[in-house]
Amino acid sequence: MCSDIIFAMIQFPKNFLWGAATSAYQVEGNNFNSDWWPWEKAIGKQPSGDACRHYNLYPQDFDLAQSLNHNAHRLSIEWARIEPREGEFLQTEIQHYIDVILALRARGIEPMVTLHHFTNPIWFSQSGAWENKRSVERFFRYCDVVTKALAPYVHYWITINEPSIYASHSYIFGAWPPQIKSYWKTKAVYDHMTWAHIQVYHRMHQIYQEMKLSKPAISIAQHLQAVVPCTDSLRNRWAVKLRKKWFHFGILDTIARHKALDFIGVNYYSRQMVDLTGWGPGNFVHEVCQNNHTPCRKNSLGWDIYPQGLYLVLKDLQKYNVPIFITENGICTLEDNERWEFIKEHLKSIHKAISEGVDVQGYLYWSLLDNFEWAEGFVPRFGLIAMNYDTQERTVRESARKYAVVCKTGILQ
Ligand code: FCB
Repeated sequence: MCSDIIFAMIQFPKNFLWGAATSAYQVEGNNFNSDWWPWEKAIGKQPSGDACRHYNLYPQDFDLAQSLNHNAHRLSIEWARIEPREGEFLQTEIQHYIDVILALRARGIEPMVTLHHFTNPIWFSQSGAWENKRSVERFFRYCDVVTKALAPYVHYWITINEPSIYASHSYIFGAWPPQIKSYWKTKAVYDHMTWAHIQVYHRMHQIYQEMKLSKPAISIAQHLQAVVPCTDSLRNRWAVKLRKKWFHFGILDTIARHKALDFIGVNYYSRQMVDLTGWGPGNFVHEVCQNNHTPCRKNSLGWDIYPQGLYLVLKDLQKYNVPIFITENGICTLEDNERWEFIKEHLKSIHKAISEGVDVQGYLYWSLLDNFEWAEGFVPRFGLIAMNYDTQERTVRESARKYAVVCKTGILQ
């Protein structure tokens, strides 16, 4: 692994949140009112189907998380279950998520709830999804209903998961539904998501006040890579600056200016080696080094493993002066010892940032279980817990047991 950081005593702060993350569509199964469902069938990729049947098996999964000493868990709510047709909210589904959250609380596990994790209801997609400016009021209405129901049980919220990844994969690379390639549409989507977060943030705080509940902590989960110039050319340096501005700080700056940022959720996986061959907009937006100049270990999807980059990202975020939670960090691999190495090296990087004054308050490994990895299907194995998708059997991996010791003691040996 490309890590050169050496540490002495690795002790994390008291009250640190330790656990793992999931998202509804990736684990629940049978989300047939969500836009990914017909899309999977249409393009003929591996469908999500039953996934991990977590919709029914969540008590068993949370028992495992508890046995692994997790004191926090990030989950998401499937909008299409709550509002399968526009304006029609299903009380039974809202109650389901209340039960899920109470099941976590009963096990001493703090929930962190995401309201939007990549998938939309089919009706929302059919009416232009996030390209349509009415997306803001539609999302607002859904969040209003959910917050009023869940506020008594939830303190930590993520409104939108990785707006930049949603926008780029769906509207620049055309890899995810609706498979469009348009910078203008990308900008519209990004702007609507940003504005939706700001409005929802303020409404949620208002609901807590009206219900006389203590203030919640609300943010987005931001996908952040270590953006590193491959060679020290003017073009590369400019590209690094612009990419950080567009993909890292742009949305954070805007929502911080609108006082809609209680903490920052960091999803960190990898690095991006910037090496431009031209001055065109495409070069600046996504061109990366093709020459493997500074090779690294990779995960099974070919992403560079670069733990020291997490330290760089955290230092960059210090200027916002709000707490930080690692809301996702993980590796897909068939070699479980690589997973423990990965966790250990990233925790060291986090600890180094903490020791330099960065206020990191929690770490949520991606993911609790192997699950449905979007366009890649079930092949990548990110889980602390291995899934047998034929039998739905769960098996706790050795890395999970090693991580459990850190979760219990707050000490990394
Ligand atoms: C993140 C997503 C998450 C998962 C991991 C591997 O970008 O938020 O759902 O797919 O990547």
